[in-house]
Amino acid sequence: MAVLQVLGISGSLRQASTNTALLNAAEALVRRHDAELTRASIRLPLYDADLADPEALAPVDEFKAALSSADAVLIATPEYNFGPSGVLKNAIDWASRPAYRSVFRDKPVAVIGASGSAVGTARAQGQLKQVLLGMASQVFPYPELVVANAAQRFDGQGKLSDPEVQQRLESFLRDFVAWARRVRVT
Ligand SMILES: Cc1cc2nc3c(=O)[nH]c(=O)nc-3n(C[C@H](O)[C@H](O)[C@H](O)COP(=O)(O)O)c2cc1C
Repeated sequence: MAVLQVLGISGSLRQASTNTALLNAAEALVRRHDAELTRASIRLPLYDADLADPEALAPVDEFKAALSSADAVLIATPEYNFGPSGVLKNAIDWASRPAYRSVFRDKPVAVIGASGSAVGTARAQGQLKQVLLGMASQVFPYPELVVANAAQRFDGQGKLSDPEVQQRLESFLRDFVAWARRVRVT
């Protein structure tokens, strides 16, 4: 079986991000299912259709190329004011052009998320899934994997230390990889 290439996107830029830490945990877990998780940077310029400077656009091109070559995408989003982070939406907007023919079209995408609150990213994930449908992506139809009170789920080194979250993440990823293999358009 060919190794499934999964592109991981963290919706947080900060060094000690719990969403990036969640992707780190996912990276180790997907290997058990013949999948490989690589990362994309969303440190991109603000979306501007007039931007033409090739140097400024280089990270955008890199982001789109990574999405294009991935078999599937796993997004870990924080929740900012009940929605996904602005930096994540900005990156998605860049990748969404040309409309309905973008690198997101038909792409199998799963959404997970970690946040500081007790309801942890359920609202942000719902909004993000709607955005993905707007680009004709295939959205993993699965109960939300929310990591609430996220700071308590990781140790001082950013390693996932909560066995219950670990178990939920394991099941989620096992089923996501199997689903992505079934639905991906080659
Ligand atoms: C501008 C801003 C808005 C936030 N709004 C919410 C929110 O609506 N719901 C929530 O659960 N947490 C909210 N938080 C807390 C974040 O979930 C928390 O900072 C989280 O750790 C961010 O993810 P990260 O660890 O990957 O950076 C907010 C944080 C910021 C900075």
